[in-house]
Amino acid sequence: MATPAIREAIALERGTADDLDSVMIVMEQAFGSHFGEAWTRSQCAGILPMTGVLLRLARTRDSGLAVGFSLSRSIVDDAELLLIAVAPAQQRRGVGRLLLEDFIEQARTSGISTAHLEVRDGNGAMSMYRDAGFAPVGRRRKYYHAPDGSAFDALTFMRKI
Ligand SMILES: CC(C)(COP(=O)(O)OP(=O)(O)OC[C@H]1O[C@@H](n2cnc3c(N)ncnc32)[C@H](O)[C@@H]1OP(=O)(O)O)[C@@H](O)C(=O)NCCC(=O)NCCS
Repeated sequence: MATPAIREAIALERGTADDLDSVMIVMEQAFGSHFGEAWTRSQCAGILPMTGVLLRLARTRDSGLAVGFSLSRSIVDDAELLLIAVAPAQQRRGVGRLLLEDFIEQARTSGISTAHLEVRDGNGAMSMYRDAGFAPVGRRRKYYHAPDGSAFDALTFMRKI
């Protein structure tokens, strides 16, 4: 569970296309280009107007700086966490857990019954997902493609809401 201290320090809010600069700064810092997991600005801009897509931003309450975000999409009963990222300088403080719990809460209030996500095999986020009740349900071979030509499997995770 996210701690009271991190809830006190970080505010979550709905993001819009106006927040894309902040999203891309966190994206580039958090993912880098090594594993081919990051989305481009145009991929983000393209999905934002779609029905069921939700961008959530984590901002520090003192300065308003965006330190993390999640991007998800809901279709009928299912919600998929497409991206979650926290700026490296702010990692391991509980912001990722806060954003993940928020994704689940937003899905619950929208009447969603199942949450899905996928993650590169070996990504440290896997333990965060397991702790939040997600269980691995499948593997997509060579799903992520790095600029140097290497490919990495994705694991798919699921949990009931
Ligand atoms: C994954 C990510 C969002 C986690 O954000 P965070 O703010 O550091 O997460 P938290 O501090 O809430 O950590 C929650 C738990 O997740 C696990 N965890 C998070 N990052 C981890 C890492 N790099 N290695 C191992 N475990 C990790 C730990 O169990 C951690 O709890 P602990 O610190 O009490 O041990 C962040 O590391 C990130 O932006 N990574 C790059 C982008 C990415 O890979 N996103 C996921 C795929 S879309």
